[in-house]
Amino acid sequence: MKNAFVKNILCIGAGYVGGPTMAMIAYKCPRYKVTVVDINHERIAQWNSDRLPVYEPGLGEIIGAVRGRNLFFDTDIDRCIKEASIIFVAVNTPTKVFGAGAGMAADLQYWEKTARQIREAADSPKIVIEKCTIPVKTALAMERILTSQEGSVSFDVISNPEFLAEGTAMRDLEFPDRVLIGSRETDRGIRARREIVDIYANWVPRERIIESNIWSSELSKLVANAFLAQRISSINAVSALCEKTDADVQEVARAIGLDSRLGSKFLNASVGFGGSCFKKDILNLVYLCRSYGLSEVADYWESVVKINEYQKDRFVLAMLSAMFNTLAGKKIALFGFAFKADTGDTRETPALYVAKSIVEERAGLVITDPQALRNAMADLEGVDNITYEIDPYKAAAGCDAIALMTEWKLYTGLDYERIYASMTKPAFIFDGRNILDRTRLFEIGFNVFSIGKTPLVHV
Ligand code: UDX
Repeated sequence: MKNAFVKNILCIGAGYVGGPTMAMIAYKCPRYKVTVVDINHERIAQWNSDRLPVYEPGLGEIIGAVRGRNLFFDTDIDRCIKEASIIFVAVNTPTKVFGAGAGMAADLQYWEKTARQIREAADSPKIVIEKCTIPVKTALAMERILTSQEGSVSFDVISNPEFLAEGTAMRDLEFPDRVLIGSRETDRGIRARREIVDIYANWVPRERIIESNIWSSELSKLVANAFLAQRISSINAVSALCEKTDADVQEVARAIGLDSRLGSKFLNASVGFGGSCFKKDILNLVYLCRSYGLSEVADYWESVVKINEYQKDRFVLAMLSAMFNTLAGKKIALFGFAFKADTGDTRETPALYVAKSIVEERAGLVITDPQALRNAMADLEGVDNITYEIDPYKAAAGCDAIALMTEWKLYTGLDYERIYASMTKPAFIFDGRNILDRTRLFEIGFNVFSIGKTPLVHV
């Protein structure tokens, strides 16, 4: 059986990107052996168990089909490096929290350690693929590290950025809008890049696999996220204007979205964007621009993040002002804590800022979420006056207000008459995602506040 595998692929980093991506490659390419390793042994144990460390619709089924067949989770990184000819690097590159560029630049320490480990362990040629998001020109540094040893084996560095979104990762992997593969434009570089093209060509239509020079590929990832986030910040900025002018942000978004040059996606006004990528990647881009002396360009992109902070702040201030300028002693239920629906991930979730602000105003908080309570508890460790409740009906009972943070479908199907009856009056609802039927809620008796719309208030 061992010799039946035609390629031996390794992924270093068993997180949100590495796990699902390798599961899909293994699933679509039964003749490749795919191994995922991580320095975190507990995480590997979870991947080998029934309780996967990542919640992603459809992931469990695929893991069930391929684990132990041609997908393996391992902890012996050195041995796995030796055995593989193609190595994906999907370690995390969080925002630096210390030294030069703190709060903006990418922290490349895990990434660099990984490069050194590959160099030390490798005893045959490897293609090394940057999967994690890194600043443009990182491949150059990677090449230098890999080739800095006398008589070392040869390495080709490829950039293949990940565009999957959480919650839809399996669909994004199976039917990607595009797969981008960048390399050095030398004969060797192009040969290495073709090897990676061959992997994806097992299931992705050839016209969706695009090849480019390596710097374009690295930069495209940052720019793609910056453009997406910019659309949200643009519509969120407009939502503030709508509230002043009695325009309705959803009507405005619809009118804009029907322009085929723009399209309808990423125009949902919200309490703000979250997730592990947008803020980090934009700040990374801002830092890059500044380091090349492009301060106007840096300011431009930085404003996308500033509007996002403003939007979260505006949401809390709107709650405060609607509830007679005091939240002290009141009880508020947060519906949803994840940064978006269909994930338990809470990284950069706007709900965290809202939760902390509410507690600072000395209100009691009840948090409910179908997937993210464990992460919420960790994020808010040490903060008093918060309870966690999986059942939204129980969470809302006895509260003065509900603030909807995450667009979980289940929140649109609840019995709001029952909820209203169980709440303190006057009862308020703040829909941070514009997903609830506001007219109906108003009829039930709620005072309804949405993003970018005139509030519906009794009295
Ligand atoms: C994003 C990119 O989409 C993906 O391509 C990249 O690889 C990683 O970053 P992700 O962070 O999983 O993926 O989430 P995404 O679906 O893009 O949403 C990001 C945030 O924007 C969420 O908080 C979401 O709720 C918010 N959002 C999205 C809005 O507020 N309005 C919208 O119209 C769309």
